[in-house]
Amino acid sequence: MLLGSKSNVVCGLDIGASSIKMVKLENKGGNYAVKAMGSRDLPVEAIVSEDIKDRDSIIFNLQSLIEQTDPKTRDVVISISGHGVITDRITIDKKTGAEAEQAILFEAEQRSPFDVEDVTLDYHIIDVNEGTNKMDVLLVAARNEFLKTYLDIIQDAGLKPVVVDTDAFAILNSYEINYELDPERVTALVNIGYDITNVTFLKDGKYHSTRDISSGGRMIFDAIQKEFRLNQELTHKAIRGEMEASIDQDMLKATIVTSIEEMITGLEVAFSYFKSLANVPNIDWIILSGGGALIPYLPEFVQSKLNIPIEIANPLRNIEYDPDMFSQIQPEKIAPLLSVAIGLAARKVR
Ligand SMILES: Nc1ncnc2c1ncn2[C@@H]1O[C@H](COP(=O)(O)OP(=O)(O)OP(=O)(O)O)[C@@H](O)[C@H]1O
Ligand SMILES: [Mg+2]
Repeated sequence: MLLGSKSNVVCGLDIGASSIKMVKLENKGGNYAVKAMGSRDLPVEAIVSEDIKDRDSIIFNLQSLIEQTDPKTRDVVISISGHGVITDRITIDKKTGAEAEQAILFEAEQRSPFDVEDVTLDYHIIDVNEGTNKMDVLLVAARNEFLKTYLDIIQDAGLKPVVVDTDAFAILNSYEINYELDPERVTALVNIGYDITNVTFLKDGKYHSTRDISSGGRMIFDAIQKEFRLNQELTHKAIRGEMEASIDQDMLKATIVTSIEEMITGLEVAFSYFKSLANVPNIDWIILSGGGALIPYLPEFVQSKLNIPIEIANPLRNIEYDPDMFSQIQPEKIAPLLSVAIGLAARKVR
């Protein structure tokens, strides 16, 4: 959804349940360079299952993040995901221009699970088949009420949202600018967040479909907090591998592995649904991003349970940056957290 403005420096803002991530990228003829970046942890109760519980704290953290990274920032590209957004793939007769738009919107109105009055619709033509004279179109319907809550927060923080994308497309965009799409391998881009895991499937080197699973790092956080009787701050530390000396690592591993069962089931269901929809026997590999990719023992465990090779995404792979911007941390260590923000910042803002 394009809401105006034009620039070759774009600020991507990823407001997640666990933290806000900001990345500003300059587009130099298709080559990207990081101009600013930063993140702020949110209190664990500020956003719960996509519901905004503490908007003041989000606004405060947004303002302080912008103030400390690049105070001149005004225009931002944001994303939404989860239950406020529905994506659907349709095949219609090939058309162009206004005629295509009319046909797509007509189809969308027939299909949208929300009332058309209550949603903002957008679409993207994925593929045109000259042989059959058909085209595949991706429909995106965002619930207005859901969208407005986010837009109001951004505006109240003194920022101007110029594009609204979805997390899943931001992940895809971030993958496309950093890796060659392999037409031979069926790929699942899996972004494990705090409350949501976004899955995007690629087939024949192209986008196929996407699915959001309502499960993520919160389950692990809660399980560790309970098991080791830690406060929030120490629980964060334990997950970040900063408590190796003070907590039993075997017990930590057991706690993590047990608490992600539900997420794994969610992935299995999403994968088998995709396999029958796309008529493919296997998913060849998983590209893992989001904070979940950094949780100790998680990638190995998911890989062994699903029996699919996993590679951790590096969304900075093809991007120029000054390592000093990342202060004490090695950029590649936290890069998977930035997948959505990078994908948003690499959006064309016409
Ligand atoms: N450095 C780190 N090491 C290990 N785990 C981490 C690290 N940073 C974040 N995490 C974990 O990653 C998860 C959060 O991931 P992420 O930041 O991608 O979620 P989010 O975008 O805030 O949430 P959502 O997308 O669900 O709204 C949390 O469970 C957190 O504990
Ligand atoms: Mg996220």
